[in-house]
Amino acid sequence: MNQEQTTGRSFRRPGRHPLVDRTERTTVGQTTVENPKMSCRDVAVYYDSKKAISNITLDIGYNEVIAMIGPSGCGKSTFIRCLNRMNDTIEGCLVTGQIFMDGKNIYDNDVDVVPLRAQVGMVFQKPNPFPKSIYNNIAYGARIHGFVQNRDETDELVEGALKNAGLWSEVKDRLEMPGTSLSGGQQQRLCIARAIAVNPEVILMDEPCSSLDPIATAIIEELIDELKQNYTIAIVTHSMQQASRISQRTAYFHQGDLIEVGSTDQIFLNPLHQLTEDYITGRFE
Ligand SMILES: Nc1ncnc2c1ncn2[C@@H]1O[C@H](COP(=O)(O)OP(=O)(O)OP(=O)(O)O)[C@@H](O)[C@H]1O
Ligand SMILES: [Mg+2]
Repeated sequence: MNQEQTTGRSFRRPGRHPLVDRTERTTVGQTTVENPKMSCRDVAVYYDSKKAISNITLDIGYNEVIAMIGPSGCGKSTFIRCLNRMNDTIEGCLVTGQIFMDGKNIYDNDVDVVPLRAQVGMVFQKPNPFPKSIYNNIAYGARIHGFVQNRDETDELVEGALKNAGLWSEVKDRLEMPGTSLSGGQQQRLCIARAIAVNPEVILMDEPCSSLDPIATAIIEELIDELKQNYTIAIVTHSMQQASRISQRTAYFHQGDLIEVGSTDQIFLNPLHQLTEDYITGRFE
């Protein structure tokens, strides 16, 4: 019997590997996957001269849900905004490194960000429906991107997207009402439907449930589980329970570094890095 068992000072299982030291900032764990949808290589982001994230190398697999976790300010939002070049819209923000989607670097000069942001859709913390009807929240992007030519096609697409987002039965009789007339949880599903309507391959979600009650959260979580059959999903969450319920892989960020990546079970049950263990056991905020 070893020291940990006899003293009961630690919950760590006996015979476990020693943890990587807190001062070590090279990513530990499996950063690559066999079948990546997106591959980030050495990605760093600066806001003016201040470096916000460094040396992020990470693959995101086809049809997986990957959770990004870590203390406030560690760079989770900054990182997922790189995946659809949303940081381009922030003045003074510079992204370095490479991000490939299906082998093509999305930061190449010949990439048009408008279709890119449809292909890699985004859902934000606070539901942000357009100041338009429920119907037009969905139809607008589809028209702009040329996915629909006439009213029948638009009707069909709106119904399909709302069904996929699990909202159809709740709104089918009030499609002309403003999107903002819906409850917060419904608005968030409307935003998911809006993202789905332009035929994305990847959906980024930045704390999509943080303004929702537990029932609306459970509905969104179920939806994410269904959506992963057709889409690749990267989700930032402050809820470790949520990460463990919905994701297959988890990435732990700390002060701008990607500290550890692994299967969600391994990250929560058997982390390799001391900083990951500190976070999941509540030693940080
Ligand atoms: N638009 C911006 N301009 C300047 N600095 C920024 C900007 N956005 C983020 N930062 C800085 O970059 C760092 C990472 O911020 P980021 O918002 O990515 O963290 P986060 O992990 O998403 O935090 P939270 O959990 O609080 O949302 C922080 O130091 C933050 O102050
Ligand atoms: Mg954030």
